Amino acid sequence: MSQKERTDGPDLDFRKESVQDVLFAIRNGGFSGSIMPANVVVGPDAQKVAAFVSQYAGSKSSAAK
Ligand code: HEM
Repeated sequence: MSQKERTDGPDLDFRKESVQDVLFAIRNGGFSGSIMPANVVVGPDAQKVAAFVSQYAGSKSSAAK
């Protein structure tokens, strides 16, 4: 993780996310609203991306499942 830059988002392999949290992040530009651009995807595409991300997020975390 020493290669991580400020503009990098969280590593979602290790962080579990719910569909609602991913949708929130997509609509608002992350949780802080400062770096991640809002609405990279919208409407049904945003729903599909949120479902995909929440399905796999956290899969490398020992706390997953
Ligand atoms: C459709 C594309 C994207 C999805 C689904 C997505 C998803 C997420 C989620 C779920 C979080 C919140 C994680 C948490 O704190 O639990 C997040 C945060 C973040 N994302 Fe993204 N992201 C996307 C595109 C981007 C892009 C293009 C950038 C950078 C140019 C970016 C940068 C960040 C950063 C820096 C954070 C952490 C800081 C903050 O919450 O404001 N993301 N993202």
